[in-house]
Amino acid sequence: MKKYFVIGNPINHSLSPKLHNHWLEQNDINAVYEKIKLEENEIENFILKIKNQEINGCNVTVPFKKTVIPFLDKLSLEAEQTQSVNTICFHNGELVGYNTDIGGFEKAINKLNYKIEDKKILILGAGGVVPSIIFALNKMKATKITVSNRTYKKAENLKSQFKEINIVGWGEIPEFDIIINATSLGLNNETIDLKTRNIGDGKLFYDVIYNPNETNFLKDGKKLGNQTENGKLMFIYQAFEAFKLWHDLEPSVDVKILNLLNND
Ligand code: ATR
Repeated sequence: MKKYFVIGNPINHSLSPKLHNHWLEQNDINAVYEKIKLEENEIENFILKIKNQEINGCNVTVPFKKTVIPFLDKLSLEAEQTQSVNTICFHNGELVGYNTDIGGFEKAINKLNYKIEDKKILILGAGGVVPSIIFALNKMKATKITVSNRTYKKAENLKSQFKEINIVGWGEIPEFDIIINATSLGLNNETIDLKTRNIGDGKLFYDVIYNPNETNFLKDGKKLGNQTENGKLMFIYQAFEAFKLWHDLEPSVDVKILNLLNND
């Protein structure tokens, strides 16, 4: 039986096993997918197990998306440019790191029938997932990307990878069409103190968080008359892309899948 894992720390709340095991069963694939909490000094040894095929592949989540890179033989273009790996495969004797967060975000936005082209984007946060979101937005031809992060320096560091982005201080709200919450604010019911008076309606409020289903950030956006969307589809489609890489087939994304994640 093939074995796949998601590695991270903490890992308790990961819904990846639920999703992958559902698809494995649905497609009659003799494999199992589990979560495992690792310490940083255990990463190298774990990845070696993929190289010698004791394990067949893994997903990587916070805080190891960059940590795993030195132990891999090759990176996809996306993983290279974002310095972020969330999927590891063993292909033709080589360990290859991929970034499926990018495709996940892109597919999720496409499903909304939303055109990113010519739009101004404001991203709140500068953590692990932000390089992937910027990469995807550039690919979809956003006109202007602005990043606002509590720790200014961290936002500024993103400029070495993405020279075209603008940085503003935390709490500053420049003009935008789409605002994306990529902070962890909202996971525990926190609010983000936006100067909502100047925001108005007709925008898209996107939250990377999907549990809770509707953060205060999305509730506030909705109250002002804006379209809102949580990160559930992004999560599902990053898993979809990883599944495709490992098993060479596209799993189904349907109501059943959406409900599977709702139950938590
Ligand atoms: P990491 O920073 O380790 O990559 P993350 O979960 O990917 O972790 O990112 C957390 C994001 O939420 C960061 O942008 C963080 O801002 P800082 O860089 O200033 O830490 C943001 N964040 C977390 N708590 C916050 C708070 N109370 N107010 C504002 N931003 C917060």
